[in-house]
Amino acid sequence: MDRRDFIITCGTVALASMLDANFYSNLLANQKDNMLKTYNKAILVKEDGTPLKEADIKPHVNYIFFYPYAATPCYLINLDQEIKPVEIKLKDGKSYTWPGGIGSKKSIVAYSAICAHQWSYPTKEYSFINYYPPDTPSETTKKAGIIQCCAHLALYDPKEGAKVIDGPAEVPLASILLQEEEGNIYAVGVLGVEQFTQFFDSYRAELRQRYGTTAKARELVEKCTVMEVDKYVQAVVRC
Ligand code: FES
Repeated sequence: MDRRDFIITCGTVALASMLDANFYSNLLANQKDNMLKTYNKAILVKEDGTPLKEADIKPHVNYIFFYPYAATPCYLINLDQEIKPVEIKLKDGKSYTWPGGIGSKKSIVAYSAICAHQWSYPTKEYSFINYYPPDTPSETTKKAGIIQCCAHLALYDPKEGAKVIDGPAEVPLASILLQEEEGNIYAVGVLGVEQFTQFFDSYRAELRQRYGTTAKARELVEKCTVMEVDKYVQAVVRC
């Protein structure tokens, strides 16, 4: 290694440590209102089992993976523009700083796909809650670039930490914290108002049928297979 390479390498290491330090200090800051919960650090992989890379995440395609539990679905979206951090204020006075997008463009975000209203969620058979890319507006609300749940028309803004834009939801979708490390992408925690207890209570019988036992549905994952929603779900319901 020549001197220039050495300096660049040291600089890269220093920057990576700085980013990690910022990442973890943000995580700690978010702890003050108990809005952050760390779970397993789970690597995102493709269907063939190899690690998912930033280049694999096509802009405005809605991807699904399951985290932090085997049965809890999440959406992964490359919004194709820099997504900045946002301060989210909840109606009960609590708040948290959503850290924005990751990746070279800071354009990649992930949210729980369990609707924060009454927990509609994507199954293999159908999904009422979906991402509407900028060129595919909702027929009902005429809005695009949103996540919309057709069950009762809750609208969330994926560019703003999944804040509620309209409809009956009282809180944003919970955010899945992503972290990049040496070109791999990991889910490391959940930020915001989790809906997992209500989800497991509401769909106990359905999940038992799908996963065999409740314990299996509630298994904490260490690896998340990422799939396109349009391939995973038979009927993507748009409205
Ligand atoms: S369950 Fe999604 S809007 Fe009611």
